[in-house]
Amino acid sequence: MDDAQNVTLPTIAMLGAGSMGRAILSGLLAPGVQVAGIRVTNRSAARAATLAGAPGVTAYATETRADANRLAVEGAQVVLVAVKPAMVRDLLAEISDSLAPGTVVVSVAAGVTAATMESLLPDSISVVRAMPNTPAVVGKAVTGVSAGSRTEPEDLSLVRTLFETVGEVVEVPESQLDALSTISGSGPAYVFLLIEALTEAAVQKGFTPAQAATLVNGTFLGAAELLVSSGEEPAELRRRVTSPNGTTERAIAVLAEADLPALFARATDAALARARALAAG
Ligand SMILES: NC(=O)c1ccc[n+]([C@@H]2O[C@H](COP(=O)([O-])OP(=O)(O)OC[C@H]3O[C@@H](n4cnc5c(N)ncnc54)[C@H](OP(=O)(O)O)[C@@H]3O)[C@@H](O)[C@H]2O)c1
Repeated sequence: MDDAQNVTLPTIAMLGAGSMGRAILSGLLAPGVQVAGIRVTNRSAARAATLAGAPGVTAYATETRADANRLAVEGAQVVLVAVKPAMVRDLLAEISDSLAPGTVVVSVAAGVTAATMESLLPDSISVVRAMPNTPAVVGKAVTGVSAGSRTEPEDLSLVRTLFETVGEVVEVPESQLDALSTISGSGPAYVFLLIEALTEAAVQKGFTPAQAATLVNGTFLGAAELLVSSGEEPAELRRRVTSPNGTTERAIAVLAEADLPALFARATDAALARARALAAG
């Protein structure tokens, strides 16, 4: 997010302040973001205590207060559900009676549908699904958001503002959210795999692991920044590095033999099939 931009958000309860929850919390605590109040919950008191000193944050643990989640959602206008998918149903059943009418419940849990969540909550509660990715930790997430059947445009816009504190937001119908997850959700893993592979090639060419990391990490970062700042298509930027009959051209010819588009299509199809199997239980 642009630090200079001022963002105002209503009271938010974050249920499950684990890896993803804390990444989103860092966006809510960023300069330029004003949140009326932030309540977070964990199971363990020790985990909750690590957030107790954060400005404007009230941290509860179910270990010390059995009603921690219900307490956290009281009076909150947005409830962010960030526990593991298998725990979402029990959690929603637990807080259902404590939600104020009109509350927006947004879940980042993979595979738990809006219809399932709506069936566990009063009709007056709007449900939104969101699928962020791990670069949220550095404010560079790409988050897909999908409306439920009771979501008003202003609910979605509120959720968009929330996730824009940690990066970019793309609105898609829920039917496309699993597909989005195979691209941007899993995507950082694909990028790390490519980085690992190129680093291995560098080490095989005699560079020390530290040198290889500098060469490869710097190249990925530099290329990504060049892509963003130039506004050019990646194919055009690739052409600019690839002189006819030059060295890069030979390398690209070898990589093309692997038919990367087909390989990525198969990889993302496999991820999608797994998402459907998990959702089916
Ligand atoms: N990580 C990702 O890349 C990613 C991306 C998109 C979506 N997601 C979704 O984000 C959700 C969380 O994933 P994660 O990686 O952040 O998992 P995680 O680190 O295990 O965080 C889950 C947190 O939930 C807390 N918790 C569990 N049961 C609770 C309860 N009844 N009341 C209050 N807090 C409770 C746990 O507290 P304790 O620490 O005290 O046990 C833990 O901190 C998942 O549904 C996942 O599908 C993750």
